[in-house]
Amino acid sequence: MTAQLLKPNSDQLKLKTLPQHIAMIMDGNGRWAKKRNLPRIAGHRQGAQTLKNILRCCKNWGIKNLTVYAFSTENWGRPPQEVTFLMGLFEKLLQSELLEMHTEGVKIQILGDLSLLPSSLQQIITKATLQTQSNQEIGLNIAINYGSRQEITKACQTIALQVQKGLLKPEAITPQLLENYLDTKGISEPDLLIRTSGEMRLSNFLLWQMAYTEIYVTDTLWPDFTPNELYQALLTYQKRERRFGKLVNS
Ligand code: FPP
Repeated sequence: MTAQLLKPNSDQLKLKTLPQHIAMIMDGNGRWAKKRNLPRIAGHRQGAQTLKNILRCCKNWGIKNLTVYAFSTENWGRPPQEVTFLMGLFEKLLQSELLEMHTEGVKIQILGDLSLLPSSLQQIITKATLQTQSNQEIGLNIAINYGSRQEITKACQTIALQVQKGLLKPEAITPQLLENYLDTKGISEPDLLIRTSGEMRLSNFLLWQMAYTEIYVTDTLWPDFTPNELYQALLTYQKRERRFGKLVNS
């Protein structure tokens, strides 16, 4: 039986304690390509295919949000050809997959500062987010030109302006209020972070939102990541005891 056919209520996975929200650092595309003597962009292309499979799998298994790190604020430092390729890939994928994702009930949201993206990419992003805004099967949150420190800094600046204008008292600033100024407003915190290709870092991804997220790191390179491995990650997650800083049974 393939993992796609395994239902979350199968023998081992417990339906009730599946993560509602999975965050994904899709790392290792370049290494995947290098191992095959292919250009790095071939790894990104294959990585996009993996994302399609994993999204469908998450949807079928009842996971309500998948947040993926597609391009960080630091990724602008890559060779210009790779950056251009990635921007083109995001645009092409959003264009070619939009109808199918919409039909399948995927709600697309983008995290990050979109103002620096090519205008044709910004246009398809606007179209995709508007068209899918009422969908409820699964949220696909794509972080593009995203950096968590930048996101939190921007939130602080907006809040500071409100205080300066006398619209907000400093003592009214709470973690809950700050969350309303983050790109993830309205999206639950990730329960599980999966990072492929073995690196043990958060890389400026969802630093605020992942304060209590369980982390699963696998050596598998992202283009090789399969539904079967996702299944293994979910099994591992379900064995963890989530205490949120409290004692058990307290
Ligand atoms: C990291 O691997 C991967 C990226 C920076 C790009 C991820 C993008 C995709 C998988 C395409 C997804 C498409 C959409 C629309 C979201 P790396 O290049 O850092 O790999 P390396 O560490 O082996 O060099």
